[in-house]
This record gives sequence, C-alpha cells and structure tokens, in this order.
Amino acid sequence: MAKQEDDFKKVISHAKEYGYVFQSSEIYDGLSAVYDYGQNGAELKKNIREYWWKAMVQLNDNIVGIDAAIFMHPTTWKASGHVDAFNDPLIDNKDSKKRYRADVLVEDHVAKIENKIEKEVAKAAKRFGDAFDKEQFLATNPRVLGYQEQATGILKRLGKSLENEDLADVKKLIEELDIACPMSGSKNWTDVKQFNLMFGTKLGASAESAMDLYLRPETAQGIFVNFLNVQKTGRMKIPFGIAQTGKAFRNEIVARQFIFRMREFEQMEMQYFIKPGTQKEWYEHWKEHRMKWHLSLGMGEENYRFHDHEKLAHYADAASDIEFRFPFGFKELEGIHSRTDFDLSQHEEYSSKKLQYFDPETRENYVPYVLETSIGLDRMFLAVFSKSLQEEELENGTFRTVLKLPAVLAPTKAAVFPLVKKDGLPEIAKEIIADLKWDFNVLYDEKDAVGRRYRRQDANGTPFCITVDHQTLEDQTVTIRHRDTMEQQRVAITELRSIIHEEVDMRVWLRKIKG
Ligand code: GAP
Repeated sequence: MAKQEDDFKKVISHAKEYGYVFQSSEIYDGLSAVYDYGQNGAELKKNIREYWWKAMVQLNDNIVGIDAAIFMHPTTWKASGHVDAFNDPLIDNKDSKKRYRADVLVEDHVAKIENKIEKEVAKAAKRFGDAFDKEQFLATNPRVLGYQEQATGILKRLGKSLENEDLADVKKLIEELDIACPMSGSKNWTDVKQFNLMFGTKLGASAESAMDLYLRPETAQGIFVNFLNVQKTGRMKIPFGIAQTGKAFRNEIVARQFIFRMREFEQMEMQYFIKPGTQKEWYEHWKEHRMKWHLSLGMGEENYRFHDHEKLAHYADAASDIEFRFPFGFKELEGIHSRTDFDLSQHEEYSSKKLQYFDPETRENYVPYVLETSIGLDRMFLAVFSKSLQEEELENGTFRTVLKLPAVLAPTKAAVFPLVKKDGLPEIAKEIIADLKWDFNVLYDEKDAVGRRYRRQDANGTPFCITVDHQTLEDQTVTIRHRDTMEQQRVAITELRSIIHEEVDMRVWLRKIKG
C-alpha cells in the first residue's frame, strides 16, 4: 500500500513538474478536485480526444458527432431521473469529521481482500516457477477461494442494499466489516444519507425571473434531446450512433484521487440507437470494440478487466465497466450501459413530443433502445500518464525517469538539438524545426549537455530526439534517438518526416482496432 501511495505521489508531482496538470487556482491554495491542464497536458488531452473521436465517429459510417450546450432546460434532469436519483450514499465520521461515500468505503475494503489474492498468486508463482498455472491456482487454492467468496458476498450485499435503498443495512455492513475512518482510525460513524451530486446555478438577470438550472452531470442527455434533430437532418437509419465530448460537473463527496474523481471533468460519450430486442447483441459488440480501442494503445492486456454491475443504474438493463490498473488498484475507466428506451421515453413523457423512429422496412414507429459507451477523458489521461511513467535502471547502473507515452498521443513528437551553440549548428536545427512543425509538434533545446537534454525529453515523453552535429555540415545527416530503446541512428535530414510519421500516425494505431 505504501508503495502504491508513493508511486501515485510521483505521478502527481511529475504531472506538475512537466507542465501536464496543475491544481486549479493554485495561487489561492487551489480548489478541491478541480484541476487545470498545462501546456503538455492540454496537448495530451487533445490527442486522446482525437484518438477517441476518429475511432468512434470518423471510422464508423453510421456514427456522427455533435456538440450540445452545457446548460439544458431543467426539465431534462427531472425526466432523466437525475433530480430524484442521482445520489451517492454518504457517511460522516463523527470524530474526524471526514465525509465518505459509504459504497466506496466498502469497495475499498473489498479491494484489500483482492490484494490478498494477488499476493497469494505472486507467492505461488515464485514458488512453482515455470510450472505455475494461474487459472488452476485461482480455481482451486482454498485460501484464494475463501477470499473470493468473501469479496463477492460483500459486493452482492452492498449491491442489494443500495438497490433497495436500505441505507441502514449499508451502515450495518460497514460496522460488521469493522471499517475504520482511513484518516483517524475511528469507527464512530453517522447514519448513511443520500446526497444529490448536481451543481445548481441560475439563468437570468433578476432574482424574481431567474430560472434554476443545473450544470450537466453527464453529456448523454444533450444527445437524447437531439435524437430526432440528428436522425432527421442526417437521414440516419437504425442502428446509428451520436457521439460527443464535453464537460460534465458533479459535486463529488470523495474527491481525493487527483484527476480520477473531479468535480469538473470531461466525458467522451456515444449513444447507439438500436431496435428493441437487439440490445444484448449490441452490448457484447460495444464491450468488445471498446476493449480493442484500449488495447490498441499497447498499455498491456493484463492492466484491463471487465466488471459487470450487480447494482444497475436507474436507466440500465445491463452494465459493465472497463477497469484499468491505476496506481491505486483496478478502478473504473469506462462504462458500457444498455440504457433501454428509458431516456427517450422519459423525454417523450416530459416534453409531450414524440421521439420515435419510423422503420421503413416494417413501417412501424418505435422508441429506439440505446447502447451507451461513456469514458472520462481525464480518467483516460490518468491511465495513460500513470502507466507511462517509469523508472528504468540503465546498463551503467544509473536510473532514468521516462514517460513512455504511446507515441501517437505524445504532446511533442520530436526535440531538435544542436550539439553545440555555434558553428552554424543552431541554424540548421532551427531549419529542421521550421520544416517539421507543419506536421508535428516539435521543440528546440540547446541548453546543457546532450545527455541531460535526452533525460529531459525522456521525462517529458518525447518519442524522438534529433541531434545536429559537425558531420551534418558535411553530409546533411543527423542522429535520431528513440526514447524507449535509446537507440540512435544516423539518417538524412530528408528522411526525418517519414521516420517520425511511421511511429505517430494515428492510422497505424487505429488499424489495430479493426484488425
Ligand atoms: N452517461 C453515463 C455516465 O455518465 P458514469 O459511469 O457516471 O456514466 C462515465 O460516468 C465515465 O465518466 C466514468 O467511467 C468515468 O470515466 C467518468 N467519470 C465519472 N465521474 C467522474 C468524475 N467525477 N471525475 C472524472 N471522471 C469521471
């Protein structure tokens, strides 16, 4: 646990030191769970967004993208169920005065049990060496089976109590599991209460005429209310999807995990409108397709897993999370939800407008069902950033810090150095930059010895370093160094564009999803 915390602290301080993520309004001591993206963070975020948009919109003939407003008519949130049901169960510790999400306290307890399973696996793998069969060990080891049974039993009970709104039982569970306040160790808890997560605001100039609004807690509703506009103007035929990316706001109770859980964050969502009765098939399709998108970035299959929900949201008939191994353990990265016709039917009822699709083949009208994929852009940023940050021991026994971002997402693709600040080398380096910057983000660096400049770019996540030296003056060649292997090649200046392009071209990366 101490190592996990230590690793996570390194992620946060590296993100700040290299201009990726800053605490919002830092000069005023910050704002809890609100963050700003710096010069590199904004680029990385933009690249992740583009990687998602191309995969979802550009490469799917039947998916289009929109950009709906953050402010929506307040009835939207009544219809969607958010006014009545978008709550988290909260509990206060009477001694430390700290507030927690009751379900998160229980889930963290379960995560500790799961850690014990991982430790048993690691121990056995060491003991049995090559002969170790993980699957068989998980299925037969009595201690592991005991832990698994414990974990599933707790999650089942939590799911059931939350579904039945039995908050007294959630408190009882916390007490039975002997869960203590992580800050103070105290077990002196209040009752569990529901807390609505939407932020309210007002629209209008005078107090009397102002209208109460909410900042949207999800982007999805902007898609639902535009379903017919897009279907009709785009002459879309079912099945078809509408995608969008944009800000969402939630007054989160537990907001301690950097950009994992924020009060202002960005979502990338897609609603896929389908014929009722086909939802199972599309649910499996999108689970598989979205997992392929994640795996295409090469961050290791072992770092992802599905978690099918026991407790379903008020709108869903099936739901699964894609979980990622964050520095603090496996947690939700993306949700895939079978939302039935809940949203469109609710909006029909509350707006008194028909939100139906006319099927030209069967000549029937129906309210489509919806399959949703929803991923937090900031959470994806954290997944990519934390997995990429590595400490590597080199052959000479020294260490380097390297941010092995997938090259396609890296904010800066190449740094160009003159070996020395004289003899015309800076001028050639700047000419190379002037040429490459039409295609890529590139930067110039002439400060310090070349070795230190390499280290700086390794830590910055830059996939290529290009060095101009005295040989360049004679034969127009340079050295190009690859961040991950540290290999250097001597190449002609005219080859640089194609070498960089081959590694950062989105098409090459995205093809892995299809194939
Ligand atoms: N429209 C469905 C929906 O909003 P959700 O599971 O509440 O579902 C979807 O959110 C995704 O949005 C999550 O998987 C997560 O990646 C991201 N997300 C949710 N709350 C967040 C928060 N407070 N901070 C950062 N990301 C968040």
